[in-house]
Amino acid sequence: MKKICSVVGARPQFIKLAVVSRVLRKEFQEVLIHTGQHYDHNMSDVFFEEMDIPKPDYNLGISGGSHGKMTGEMLEKLEEVFIKEAPDMVLVFGDTNSTMAAALAAVKLHIPICHVEAGNRLGTLESPEEVNRIVTDHVSSLHLVCTPSGVEFLRREGFQDSVVLVGDPMYDAFCYYTRQLDGSELAGIVDFQGAPLEVPAKFYYLTCHRQENTDTDENLRGIFDAMEALDAPVIYPVHPRNHSRAERLCSQRAYRNLLLTQPVGYQTSISLVNRAEKIVTDSGGVQREAFFAKKPCVTVLDYVGWPETMVNGYNQLARPEKADILEKLSRPVTFDPAYQPFGDGHSAEKIVSEIRKFLQ
Ligand code: UD1
Ligand code: UDP
Repeated sequence: MKKICSVVGARPQFIKLAVVSRVLRKEFQEVLIHTGQHYDHNMSDVFFEEMDIPKPDYNLGISGGSHGKMTGEMLEKLEEVFIKEAPDMVLVFGDTNSTMAAALAAVKLHIPICHVEAGNRLGTLESPEEVNRIVTDHVSSLHLVCTPSGVEFLRREGFQDSVVLVGDPMYDAFCYYTRQLDGSELAGIVDFQGAPLEVPAKFYYLTCHRQENTDTDENLRGIFDAMEALDAPVIYPVHPRNHSRAERLCSQRAYRNLLLTQPVGYQTSISLVNRAEKIVTDSGGVQREAFFAKKPCVTVLDYVGWPETMVNGYNQLARPEKADILEKLSRPVTFDPAYQPFGDGHSAEKIVSEIRKFLQ
């Protein structure tokens, strides 16, 4: 049986892994490596538990610090594991520091790399994730792409036969787990003090964690000011990156409309997406989920991450400023039910089939 080392480290990768690993393990030996990049219970273990992901074979325990330090430590440790395991392929997802570290460690050992969610481009190296994507794509042997725009970006960079459009494993997960929702998944949402949150009948869903929005008071305050002006409460599970900044801003000004909570599990998050009036986010995953659920979305970033979501104003960019966010949220949006550029909800099978063909 051929051996695949799958490397994950951050929340969105656990979700993609959950759907891919289930299919992969039917015909390959998977060695699962968690770099440790995300480590709080509600940023890591909760996904493994709720989504039945097998326990990692390795947890490298590397997190925090500067990008260079984190990536360097991962590179060193991953190289040791790859030498010991000698896999036939390394499987990486998305665009985190864990993704790039695994790709660099593997390519130096001449191990083929399969990159899932290849080909996304924002067009700016100011985004740390863009650097990770470009480096990873340029050392990968197999580029598995979620949407047609990703194929186009890779073609422009000279990639041809290694590029395959497989659909989005986030859409697989969304379809699979949405069917299981019954409302009970909303019971466990707790605020910063651990008190349960009663979910209002009408609400907006906010997620915000990008360094562009959370590393200054000004930008985060601009987003909070917009949320305060909405006509219904806003549920905001706060990423640990900006927990203390969010808490401090809320102590300086009473944001009565903003319900800060601890990070929630995946089912809870997609349940909130499905029930919200509209979504405000800077998350690559949540802006797609808003699209899957046919909810209008405002993405607080300067650049387009997922061009397919932007047609007909389904998803609109906004600056982290009250007036701009409110104006974009006020625009009417009508979804075309036939437009589905993220595949058929079975990308995991296609991913495994491409890996099989490659390793034959
Ligand atoms: C990372 C990814 C980003 C992805 C996001 C998903 C990179 C460059 N960025 O950003 O692409 O969208 O994950 O959520 O890889 N922290 C905790 N507890 C945790 C996790 C993080 O306290 O469980 C703290 C860390 O110690 C660090 C900060 O949050 O100080 C940021 O974490 P880091 O993993 O560096 O980046 P993210 O913002 O999570
Ligand atoms: N998500 C979650 N709990 C939360 C916030 C988000 O499970 O408290 C889910 C969300 O529904 C999506 C994924 O996490 O499936 C997106 O991850 P994140 O926003 O951390 O990273 P990105 O997609 O921006 O890389």
